Amino acid sequence: MSKKRVFSGIQPTGNLHLGNYLGAILNWVRGQDDKDNIFCIVDLHAITVPQDPKDLQKRIIETAKIYLAAGIDPAKSSIFIQSSRPEHTELAWILNNFTYFGELKRMTQFKDKTGVQLGRLFQLPDTRTLSSYDRSQLEDIIRHIETEWKNSDTFRNQNKRKEETVSVGLFDYPVLMAADILLYNTDEVPVGDDQKQHVEICRDIAERVNKRYKEKVFVIPEPIINKESARIMSLTDPTAKMSKSDENDGSRINITDTPDAIRKKFARAVTDSGSEIKFDVVKKPGISNLLNILSSITQKSTSELEKEYASKNYGQFKADVAEAVINLFEPIQQKMAGLNDKEVTKILEDGAKKVAPTARETLERVQKTVGLGI
Ligand code: AQP
Repeated sequence: MSKKRVFSGIQPTGNLHLGNYLGAILNWVRGQDDKDNIFCIVDLHAITVPQDPKDLQKRIIETAKIYLAAGIDPAKSSIFIQSSRPEHTELAWILNNFTYFGELKRMTQFKDKTGVQLGRLFQLPDTRTLSSYDRSQLEDIIRHIETEWKNSDTFRNQNKRKEETVSVGLFDYPVLMAADILLYNTDEVPVGDDQKQHVEICRDIAERVNKRYKEKVFVIPEPIINKESARIMSLTDPTAKMSKSDENDGSRINITDTPDAIRKKFARAVTDSGSEIKFDVVKKPGISNLLNILSSITQKSTSELEKEYASKNYGQFKADVAEAVINLFEPIQQKMAGLNDKEVTKILEDGAKKVAPTARETLERVQKTVGLGI
């Protein structure tokens, strides 16, 4: 039986962090031997928000080094830069005509990146007060704040101003991502939870095309999401996801951080009231995030870890999580230091050549199906 085709990518938009590593790269590496893999550096997605050209070039190479140092083996997986294959944007244009404006407007990432966020404007009360509410009461409070806020003039005005200046590229991001995936007849897309909605819209577009032409133009891909590492949260605000674009560097562990920086960031990580190491995302979002991190690294369940840490305090627990992350990243950092730009560029060029026949074949098939050219 032929191996399943896997496609995934990361934007070279900033410092790659623990969330990118656990949510995406680690799963790519763990599944590498059993699958037929294509891993992309999605620079065309990166320019949907303003980028400094020199920084972008530097980050493309650094991202490739991280892929390689983390264990992506060019003999088993194709690694390439998205913009080196023009079929991605050509297919995206065709898919635009099978995508509805309304469905793109509903995409959470678009709303997150353009809208004015609740979390940034409302400070939640002290966590000790919060822990006295049960989940449904908290949900009622959140719903109430959300409604009040969305009905306010400030929200409407700020959102209107943002919409006026947001790029069409950012709006169209999911269609380009659908093209990336569909171009390679992908079966599986290993991603973090935040990208699930984009894989779902990709499935919808593919099914729509297949239905319209009454043939299997596209393979319908499945999102592959690992439960524990699906959404690694910020260390300074465990209700927001860890992100490259967070202005506060203390909110994330960068793959290239020194052991000292990692220890300091975990020591300062926001934890919750009480002293018990218990998994409870509502009452203990900070500790639950750290449990998820340790669980993804050690492959022990969070309940096993709860038992292991039953008699330990937050300080000891945080120190152990820090050491686990240091041990995870140290070998990657060493391998990165041993890679030179020239050899990495060659690997990326070879990767682009390897994927080219599939990309061309799919694009030509779609063009023919749709009736383009003569
Ligand atoms: N916090 C996270 N937890 C788990 N997985 C995550 N991913 C990102 N953040 C987390 C996964 O990493 C892959 C690459 O992400 P991306 O570069 O395409 O963009 P993103 O999802 O928007 O990630 P960032 O870090 O938050 O970037 P910026 O700040 O530039 O938007 C994806 O599989 C993603 O799910």
